Amino acid sequence: MNILAIETSCDETAAAVVRDGREILSSVVYSQVAEHQKYGGVVPEIASRRHTEQIAGVSRRALAGLPQAGGPRPAAGLLRDIDAVAVTYAPGLIGALLVGVGFAKGLALAAGKPLVPVHHIRGHVASCYLAHPGLEPPFLCLVASGGHTAILDVAGYTAYRIVGRTRDDAAGEAFDKAARVMGLGYPGGAALDALAQTAQPGKYPLPAPRIENAPYDFSFSGLKTSVVNLCHNAAQKGAALDLPALAADIAHTVAEILSSRFLAAARELGREALVCAGGVSANSRLRARLTELAAREKKSLFLPPLSLCGDNAAMIASQAYYEWQAGNRADMSLNGYATMEIA
Ligand code: KG4
Ligand code: ZN
Repeated sequence: MNILAIETSCDETAAAVVRDGREILSSVVYSQVAEHQKYGGVVPEIASRRHTEQIAGVSRRALAGLPQAGGPRPAAGLLRDIDAVAVTYAPGLIGALLVGVGFAKGLALAAGKPLVPVHHIRGHVASCYLAHPGLEPPFLCLVASGGHTAILDVAGYTAYRIVGRTRDDAAGEAFDKAARVMGLGYPGGAALDALAQTAQPGKYPLPAPRIENAPYDFSFSGLKTSVVNLCHNAAQKGAALDLPALAADIAHTVAEILSSRFLAAARELGREALVCAGGVSANSRLRARLTELAAREKKSLFLPPLSLCGDNAAMIASQAYYEWQAGNRADMSLNGYATMEIA
């Protein structure tokens, strides 16, 4: 079964075709990052406008990328090779989501194909199905992105339970805000990661608070505030901060918080397979630490390749296959939602 998925929840305009939830036939991502960088963050209205301009071309390229029997055909004709259209309908920037939802509905209606709604975070989890053919639920998943950070118990492809979650900022948000005040640009997670690799942690101890009676919850706002204060105090005194060392401490602290609580949850729940997904799963220190801890505790660890950590439509098409199998379909009244629980 070939599913064409559309993803426009934030600042990437993406379309992809995936066969049977596991095999990427084509995947196209148009990143708007360069444009939002000027403003130090995603400007929702600009994101919506760019999605509107790009979505048809990106989808056409995704369809044109399909392998063809009997040579190339016009892109529009390729819709006949698609069995369903899927779309991210929540959570995300509402104006951005609505572009994708409207486009996917029009496509499904015109082509006479069923429409499958997909939750963005479920899509991130599915990025690991594309990279690891043997991976099947049940498993425990750490999902960390710019908007979400949670530990999810995935009992089945569409059966999720939240084991822990952030009480304030997402891990990616903490990286981005720290990177911004350090002058590393936006989104600064990857730049901070690169800088952190050039130094050792230990010079700037940062808070790693625990939440009372919620051992698997997270809080990153204190860490963010500490970094902001360090930078502002140094600027006021005209003192120079050791930015590589600070980056190393930020990456170290976030990786320790995420990996230690994730492994503790796996131990308590007795889950043997561990998955990490979302933009922050690209972080080198987090990947190294998870690999080390999983090996020590004899758990199997599944990470997405770097190409599938950030937002893309292939992961949405993958999850859509399992949503389809569970009977989840949308009709022409499908709407977008800025917030929505995963479970
Ligand atoms: O999943 P994603 O692409 O978009 C959301 O759904 O939010 O995640 C984006 C987040 C941003 O906060 C970005 O800075 C962060 O992932 N990120 C990283 C790295 N690469 C991307 N954070 C830390 N280290 C990285 N290498
Ligand atoms: Zn995402």
